[in-house]
Amino acid sequence: MKIALVGYGKMGHMLESTALSFGNEVVTTIDVIAPDAKVKVASGDYEAVAKAVIESGAEGVIEFTHPSSVMGNIKALLPSKIPLVVGTTGWNDKHEEVAALAAQCGGTVMTSANFSIGVNLFYKIVEEASKLINAFDEYDAAVWEMHHNQKADSPSGTALDVARHVLAGFTKKNEIVTDAFHSKPLPNQLHVSSTRCGSVPGTHTVYFDSPADTIELTHTARSRQGFASGAVHALENLKRFLDEGKLSSGKLYGMKDVFPEF
Ligand SMILES: NC(=O)c1ccc[n+]([C@@H]2O[C@H](COP(=O)([O-])OP(=O)(O)OC[C@H]3O[C@@H](n4cnc5c(N)ncnc54)[C@H](O)[C@@H]3O)[C@@H](O)[C@H]2O)c1
Repeated sequence: MKIALVGYGKMGHMLESTALSFGNEVVTTIDVIAPDAKVKVASGDYEAVAKAVIESGAEGVIEFTHPSSVMGNIKALLPSKIPLVVGTTGWNDKHEEVAALAAQCGGTVMTSANFSIGVNLFYKIVEEASKLINAFDEYDAAVWEMHHNQKADSPSGTALDVARHVLAGFTKKNEIVTDAFHSKPLPNQLHVSSTRCGSVPGTHTVYFDSPADTIELTHTARSRQGFASGAVHALENLKRFLDEGKLSSGKLYGMKDVFPEF
């Protein structure tokens, strides 16, 4: 399919090579500063982004930019009704607003805070393990994550999602704590801790600990490749499911909608 890439940074470049390797065509790349982008737009000129996408003849759009730009891009792109996959993070609190906008103008958007297939499998494995281990009172649980030293947010959005999947199965805990403890943790508190170091692309571990042993479940990302592959497949499936009538336009979709395996 013909794909437009909005945001031509680290992810944009990886999305381009991935989309091409899957047999797609990248009809345009749009960015505010990247010198090698096909189209340069002024920062904040979201209408110019939408115009460039429409003029490219794209059948689908993938947006990986910056939390400060993502809402402007979504609002400008939705009325074009070209299926849109958004990878930019940091707008979870705007999902309802975007769903309402999509319903209003008939545009379709799909998003995930983590497009890695492995991480989404990890969520399911963690939830199943939590349910199983929940039956044994001697086990405690905790979540730890490590990322490169350029990452701005802490803990990672993925670590919080991992923690939610632990809570879904481990019913004796119901509160996520991301700060340091200054007194003994309460039994209902699930600690989520973070380390920032070097170039680590992303490691997430869940610990189930008893007096006798520790069970560790770890997902280790090797590169950004997993995010790019997941996002391109998500757009291919979104377009196909819309064409086949399995999904309807005018909605905000998530991973489960475009990857029925989840
Ligand atoms: N959902 C996922 O699986 C996933 C995976 C990796 C990264 N991310 C997120 O994707 C985003 C981008 O990551 P990155 O590593 O590519 O960052 P990056 O800084 O390397 O690239 C972002 C690019 O977007 C451009 N940009 C900013 N505003 C723009 C606009 N309005 N129009 C066009 N281009 C614009 C910037 O100039 C920059 O070149 C971040 O929010 C990151 O957290 C999500």
